[in-house]
Amino acid sequence: MVGEIIAVWFGSVHQLAMTATYAIEDLCLHEEYVHPLREEINRIAPEGLCPELAAMPLLDSFLRETVRCTNSDAITVRRKALTPFTFSDGVRVDQGDWVCIPQRAMMRDPARYSHAQQFDGFRFARANKLLALNEGCADVPEGAPLQLTDVDVDWPIWGLGNTACPGRFYATTVLKLMMVCILQGWECRLADPRALRWRTWRSSVVPRTGTVVVFQRRQMESPTLVRRA
Ligand code: HEM
Repeated sequence: MVGEIIAVWFGSVHQLAMTATYAIEDLCLHEEYVHPLREEINRIAPEGLCPELAAMPLLDSFLRETVRCTNSDAITVRRKALTPFTFSDGVRVDQGDWVCIPQRAMMRDPARYSHAQQFDGFRFARANKLLALNEGCADVPEGAPLQLTDVDVDWPIWGLGNTACPGRFYATTVLKLMMVCILQGWECRLADPRALRWRTWRSSVVPRTGTVVVFQRRQMESPTLVRRA
């Protein structure tokens, strides 16, 4: 019981905190996204009304790009073979062997993503728009899932199958609400934009405590001005 509780606690608290940290740092490092994201928020949630998170494709795309560029774990979907197993490509594992998906390498693979090493916050939003027009987009893998919460071999950040993360809808809602709050009420910047952002521990990619984000309260526009704009 203790092991199970600790595992769920670690997974739910730490994964969400790490993902949120990387998202805030990305907002600081790529300030060109602040204006379009604020515009989307003002359109969907004028006058600080509870935002309709599902209707924010740019924010969803930005967060997906954050996750793509900075997974908090290099591997996912750890599975132990209970019996010998042969994959469709002929790879064989013995009973007791472990297999996993190398998600960090997949997410940075230039064969899957155009300019894979670059942060392109709206690549997923562009891909979804083209898909709606029945056109492909070379920026993301063909048949890539549509949104952050999707579970797919091309988007294995939540795991796969029966044990895929049940907390993903909650985690995504919290992430989006945090971003909305920050974008609406705060300006943020990294104290040192060249500071190292993470360190690795086993397969985990953990934010560094020394990476400082400076928050400054925004001068809020009045709701009337927001509406006119
Ligand atoms: C960004 C945040 C999160 C990420 C990236 C994440 C990712 C994952 C991954 C990769 C797995 C393993 C799935 C598999 O092996 O198939 C998992 C399992 C799980 N997650 Fe999350 N998670 C997050 C947040 C949360 C939160 C907030 C909760 C709870 C409120 C949660 C609850 C769980 C539970 C209970 C499992 C075990 C599912 C099972 O074994 O049946 N997770 N998560």
